[in-house]
Amino acid sequence: MRITTVSSANEVGVLAAQIVAADIHRKPDCVLGLATGETPQAMYRELVRLHREAGLSFQRVTAFALDEYIGLAPDNPNSYSHYLHTHLFRHVNLPASNICLIDGLARDVALECDRYEQQIAEAGGIDLQVLGIGQNGHIGFNEPAMSFARGVHLVELDAVTRADNARFFAHLTEVPRYAISLGIKNILAAKKILLLASGQSKCAPVYQAIRGAVTPRVPASVLQDHPDVMLILDQDAADLL
Ligand code: GLP
Repeated sequence: MRITTVSSANEVGVLAAQIVAADIHRKPDCVLGLATGETPQAMYRELVRLHREAGLSFQRVTAFALDEYIGLAPDNPNSYSHYLHTHLFRHVNLPASNICLIDGLARDVALECDRYEQQIAEAGGIDLQVLGIGQNGHIGFNEPAMSFARGVHLVELDAVTRADNARFFAHLTEVPRYAISLGIKNILAAKKILLLASGQSKCAPVYQAIRGAVTPRVPASVLQDHPDVMLILDQDAADLL
């Protein structure tokens, strides 16, 4: 694992965008796995700026969402489909046919998981997976104590995760109880992983993920087993290291 600490949450995003942009320059038809949440917003802002001002082209890029809530329509402002359109897709030249999202309204969830798994395989796998980290150490929606062996799967969200993500909803009761997420197996299969963390609330999970034992109780700890992981942290998230 390579760890880089920068001075602010915005700097986390700027550096992450530079890395994503460099990978797109190196491989214009690269496959990106994209996280949501507050942390990567600065990265998306910078990628949009690089597209507008520095000619960064997404013409041949393929993008996969990392996860999605069950029960939210794509136009629901809290769905991750909506998030990715709002923060990135609608501002860059990524063709609609290259945007791969999870259907949170799928009637048959198992079928939707299989379909997405297949779509990733057909794209040749993920080249660069961007991740955030939950306060409970989750990555994507892989909650503590889930098996490392899972592919795309249905998740029952942890109480910690629902409470943490309630800030985006009008009330805790509106936070979905289930989601579909890339599994640890999919994440580990990505050729390169970029994990972003900012803020004091992330210093404990970051510490456990990097310095603790590799255990499903701290899903992000599995990244210790991946050969190409870069962590970009702000000073608060790196506080315990
Ligand atoms: C959600 C997402 C994760 C994300 C996490 C942290 O649970 N499923 O992919 O990493 O939130 O988000 P934030 O960056 O808002 O703290």
